Amino acid sequence: MRHQTALEYGEPILADTSSTDAFVEFERVQKSYDGEILVVKDLNLSMPRGEFLTMLGPSGSGKTTTLMMLAGFETATHGDIRLGGISINNIPPHKRGIGMVFQNYALFPHMTVAENLSFPLEVRKMGKSEREAKVKRALDMVQMGDFGGRRPAQLSGGQQQRIALARALVFEAELVLMDEPLGALDKQLREHMQFEIKRIADNLGITVVYVTHDQTEALTMSDRVAVFDDGRIQQLAPPDQLYEAPENSFVAQFIGENNTLEGVIKEISGGRALVELDDGELIDCKPVNVSKPGERTRVSIRPERVEYNKSRLQEGAHTLKAEVLEFIYMGDIFRTRLRVAGNDEFIIKTRNAPDVERLVPGQQIEIGWLPDDCRALDA
Ligand SMILES: Nc1ncnc2c1ncn2[C@@H]1O[C@H](COP(=O)(O)OP(=O)(O)O)[C@@H](O)[C@H]1O
Ligand SMILES: [Mg+2]
Repeated sequence: MRHQTALEYGEPILADTSSTDAFVEFERVQKSYDGEILVVKDLNLSMPRGEFLTMLGPSGSGKTTTLMMLAGFETATHGDIRLGGISINNIPPHKRGIGMVFQNYALFPHMTVAENLSFPLEVRKMGKSEREAKVKRALDMVQMGDFGGRRPAQLSGGQQQRIALARALVFEAELVLMDEPLGALDKQLREHMQFEIKRIADNLGITVVYVTHDQTEALTMSDRVAVFDDGRIQQLAPPDQLYEAPENSFVAQFIGENNTLEGVIKEISGGRALVELDDGELIDCKPVNVSKPGERTRVSIRPERVEYNKSRLQEGAHTLKAEVLEFIYMGDIFRTRLRVAGNDEFIIKTRNAPDVERLVPGQQIEIGWLPDDCRALDA
């Protein structure tokens, strides 16, 4: 990891540009480290000012590389990156006016919190009173106003992370990049900080590009999420759309819990795909990422969209036979594992209510869902 120094900050180059719709833009961006393998492949992305966008994906999918190109610590091998309509390919990191927060927040241990924040301003020859005002403001933003005199070692992990955030905010950069900033914190603190970061970003109206491999974090914080896999954005959408309308099997599997049934497309017409499951059963689905009969498909169904109470089956619901393998009472919901069309890992979630039957292993039941909740995706 690079240690961020004062020289890597700079005046926002765009302080007075009129608001263009697209603030951050990637156009056909590629990156190769070795001149052969593309770790980022044809990346296209456009963000408006004030957006909180998260890059979510498994390790090695190209998230950090993308962030580093935006920050200017790596150069794109192909394509254009623009900030406020201006191409920044040849602008060095410290002139891009971008604040950064990393997982390992590298505060200077021998300096107080206030000195950590003030130092980069001092290097830029900012006057003492202006410096003090900016440091105070940044510390207040993260509710650490009383901690300016402490050294980093005297702070908890969460407090240090807030200081790292304040350091990224002290320049009043319009754009802040965060790479797994909460990765080192325990679960409770992480959840608290997710909320804090989102609140601060909203209050300041800054634009944030946030990187994580944690889907819950991505869903709770973001205006939009770019799901990365294999150097490509697999889908870019608001959290609810990603969960409810995944466009391919990778996204369906990566976001939330998901059931898949495998089969072959028999027919596509009138917004419906007729799928023959591998055990011979025919079901109607929504054709999402399939094109023609004969093609293999993975059908995706969310656990909470499956119903087994006869009185609750909606009109038009498709029904299938299932065997109960496991029934777990979880208080607010029942979580049931079923064997469906040869799949022993078919999970359904049912909200606990007085009229909902509690199932027992070995029981044969009928389950159903609406064709629209059953998405025919790539195999
Ligand atoms: N400095 C580097 N030199 C060579 N290969 C790198 C370098 N940084 C990352 N990579 C490779 O690029 C790919 C994407 O890495 P990265 O952008 O760090 O992914 P992520 O942040 O999603 O985990 C990985 O295969 C990784 O090994
Ligand atoms: Mg990374």
